[in-house]
Amino acid sequence: MEYSCRAYELRCNECGKRFGNRPQSACDECLAPLEVKFDLDAVRGRFTRETVSAGPASIWRYKELLPIPEGFQPDLPVGFTPLTRAKNLGKRIGATNLYVKNDAVCFPTLSFKDRVVSVALANAQAFGFTTVGCSSTGNLANSVAAQSARLGLKACILVPADLEPAKILNTQVYGAHLVRIDGNYDHVNRLCTLIADEYGWGLVNVNLRPYYAEGSKTYGYEIAEQLGWKLPDNVVVPMAGGSLIRKIRKAFNELIALGLVEDKPVRFFGAQATGCSPISHAVKQGWDYIEPQRPNTIARSLAIGNPADGPAAAKMIAQNGGYAEDVSDVEVVSGIQELAETEGIFTETAGGVTTAVTARLYSHGRIGADETTVICITGNGLKTTDALEGRFRQQRAVKPRLSEFDDYIRETDPALVGGLEQELELAGGAR
Ligand SMILES: Cc1ncc(COP(=O)(O)O)c(C=O)c1O
Ligand SMILES: [Zn+2]
Repeated sequence: MEYSCRAYELRCNECGKRFGNRPQSACDECLAPLEVKFDLDAVRGRFTRETVSAGPASIWRYKELLPIPEGFQPDLPVGFTPLTRAKNLGKRIGATNLYVKNDAVCFPTLSFKDRVVSVALANAQAFGFTTVGCSSTGNLANSVAAQSARLGLKACILVPADLEPAKILNTQVYGAHLVRIDGNYDHVNRLCTLIADEYGWGLVNVNLRPYYAEGSKTYGYEIAEQLGWKLPDNVVVPMAGGSLIRKIRKAFNELIALGLVEDKPVRFFGAQATGCSPISHAVKQGWDYIEPQRPNTIARSLAIGNPADGPAAAKMIAQNGGYAEDVSDVEVVSGIQELAETEGIFTETAGGVTTAVTARLYSHGRIGADETTVICITGNGLKTTDALEGRFRQQRAVKPRLSEFDDYIRETDPALVGGLEQELELAGGAR
């Protein structure tokens, strides 16, 4: 269950011990997390602006900097999602140079987790696993289920029992075995650590975690490339385990080291829900350790009370001059609506967190109005519609006659009719 590779291998984050390539996530000397380390000189000539832009419109255009075992032929068009200017949202919150990186439309399961899963499963196959799985707050479950189905791998997926119904359905439809655990995510994750050893399964965010996490770098490569090979001033990122935010930083570092972008200060802002905010709390306190919390928030995809990469994320945010904020569940729902109403993007609760935190950062003056800021929208609103339950009244059904419609629209939305009559007058029409 090992393979060798010239370009990358696992290295301990703390003591530097080298591990080659194998399914392992913690150092056996000091218990610190392992991380994939690339020999950047080995890929220097093969990873340039030209080779990247000649590649496919997916994360595989960056494959030279992804831990993909030799012989793996990637063919799923994962990632390369839109980066769009957010002028309307910007106007509302006082930002003139705001962008949305929209992984609500990531292929194939509508969250950024598709990026990490495709890299993890390539390694699962190389290590010879025939059964894969994960512990998940929902989006990871969906993606492992979908991608393992396509690769012909068996999947066993563990989630907290109280997950949103759409995220449960979105896992089962692919034929994966879904196990609901009577507990929160941290209980699920601890159980998965034991299962990986006992059953010999490839669990993408447990024993395959170092490979899985590298997939998030593509989110950062895309931001830089889509800004015209430039780094932004700020990035606002939702945090659960704390992996994505660190990997965007790592992606920027690699692009700088390889000369694809110019070095400049970039501040990272972490976003959490107040009901589960161990990382933002640590950042506000100036800690480089995490005090675990018991999650209680509608932002279930971010509800990790004891985040594996929390300490490292808190440290990175502080080192880069950024900050972290958290918002109430009421603000999360407003954030979802605000992004939908201004930019036409329907995000899930995690995106509501990110949008609401971004608004707070501008209003508190932590981000200047004209700085280039990218907000990371990482999941799709159709998966968490229960968060909006009761927000919109269902009106009575209207008979299919113009007179009925006239009565109805005057009764329910007179302002709409006022506009219509004015338009008809302008057009010289009569009524
Ligand atoms: C939609 C969404 N956004 C962000 C995150 C946070 O990612 P990370 O665990 O890498 O901090 C998750 C994690 O589950 C998620 O589902
Ligand atoms: Zn070590």
